[in-house]
Amino acid sequence: MAAEKLMMRLVPILAVLALGLSLAAPTLAHETKLKNQETVSLGNNRGPFELVTHRGQAVTNESFLGKFMLVYFGYTHCPDVCPLDLQTVSEAVDMLGGDGDQVRPLFVTVDPKRDTVPVLADYVKNFHPRMIGLTGSAGQIASATRVYRIRARKYFPPDAEDDQYLIGHSAAIVLVGPDGAGLSLYPQGITAEDIAKDIRRFMIVSGGKNTRKGIR
Ligand code: NI
Repeated sequence: MAAEKLMMRLVPILAVLALGLSLAAPTLAHETKLKNQETVSLGNNRGPFELVTHRGQAVTNESFLGKFMLVYFGYTHCPDVCPLDLQTVSEAVDMLGGDGDQVRPLFVTVDPKRDTVPVLADYVKNFHPRMIGLTGSAGQIASATRVYRIRARKYFPPDAEDDQYLIGHSAAIVLVGPDGAGLSLYPQGITAEDIAKDIRRFMIVSGGKNTRKGIR
């Protein structure tokens, strides 16, 4: 019976995932302002990633196993979308109360050139106290965006200087389970309440024990 319930839960999630992926292009943040387009990363390959935290610690996709992850890709110079979404992520974690300890909010930059370790350290302070900022080399970031199927494109507003570029990027919040499997992809505009509710459901399915098997 538990398996049947799980399947009922998974089917709509897979549908949402498929929808999110197929709609990735038109929902790219800041799309309408695109000018002098430059591809930062595109691709559908999946694989492991290696990144560096805002404390300068090297991590891989395996470093976060055992906890849920709320993953968001963006960049610190983002004028509007990223701060709002990261606020939503932070509120969702807080709404889980003590169980929020089982959820790690991760902010991965799509702008490693400007978002260095110290810049990220300063930025994540504005959000959840347990939020981890992640950066790396251009190649490391490109690999991570491929794993999460995030699209990002650099562009320059009119009259912008060389270092004043913006980056249009997929604005998706991704929930990853303690076993590293993707569970939910939340659309832009989702509320913190709905995210918290969704995570709570997965916590109940996993029963708080043996979570690696429970949510497969
Ligand atoms: Ni943004």
